[in-house]
Amino acid sequence: MSTIQNKTVVITGASSGLGEATARLLSSQGATVVLGARRTERIESLATELNRKGGRALAVTVDVTRPEQVQALVDTAVKAYGRIDVMINNAGLMPHSPLERRKLDDWNQMIDVNIKGVLYGIAAALPYMQEQKSGHFINVSSVAGHKVRPGSTVYAATKHAVRVISEGLRQEVKPYNIRTTVISPGAIATNLPDSVTEADIAAGIRDYYAKFAIPAESFAQAVAYALNQPEEVDINEILFRPTAQEL
Ligand SMILES: NC(=O)c1ccc[n+]([C@@H]2O[C@H](COP(=O)([O-])OP(=O)(O)OC[C@H]3O[C@@H](n4cnc5c(N)ncnc54)[C@H](OP(=O)(O)O)[C@@H]3O)[C@@H](O)[C@H]2O)c1
Repeated sequence: MSTIQNKTVVITGASSGLGEATARLLSSQGATVVLGARRTERIESLATELNRKGGRALAVTVDVTRPEQVQALVDTAVKAYGRIDVMINNAGLMPHSPLERRKLDDWNQMIDVNIKGVLYGIAAALPYMQEQKSGHFINVSSVAGHKVRPGSTVYAATKHAVRVISEGLRQEVKPYNIRTTVISPGAIATNLPDSVTEADIAAGIRDYYAKFAIPAESFAQAVAYALNQPEEVDINEILFRPTAQEL
């Protein structure tokens, strides 16, 4: 039986939202968590809190658009705890806008964080997992990795890419006993709408989230489900939404 207890789990985007909720849940279930994000104070205070509660947690400042920093995050985890069992590539942003607004900086940022950040996480953790002949990647996509809507084109493209990367990874890592899960949530109540840079669109998304969004704990439970399966069971895809969410 593969359980969460005693696993070393690296989480990007652990300073808020889904990453933070996952760190809390996995830590409460006995995992060692290594928290990565740019906002050092937030991950340090979370690590302090989890350690105070009897867990094992470490904060490492990382910008996932910098491959050397992502490598340092994973190297630090392995140095501190001897191995990496789970890499959760979660950091992301969602600055929706129609293409005609030509928000090139937003597009580049989404491509750099949502796609390249995931690839850098894979590049950093894969050699250790190959060596260990065990490991588990959890990559965060979205309902937008399954559907595109006006205004979500670039975000949806990045989240489709995460699913393609995860499926290719799944096939490639067969010889190494590595598991691969892509999780595609619907609307979850986090700070994600704050990444929208167009005021009118941000207001619409905030209204939508206020009506429908479900707690970040729902995502953490999906992660725990995938991790808790027996070693020979590989949960490859989880797609879930608020019950009230139509799209
Ligand atoms: N909430 C939803 O409804 C929803 C639905 C589907 C998918 N998702 C996906 O879930 C993931 C987490 O988002 P969330 O909802 O938890 O939003 P959030 O509360 O805004 O959290 C985003 C996290 O990503 C981190 N991040 C952003 N840019 C980064 C960078 N360059 N380097 C390192 N970390 C970076 C942020 O940390 P710092 O700012 O401290 O660096 C933060 O911890 C994203 O991939 C998002 O696309 C969310």
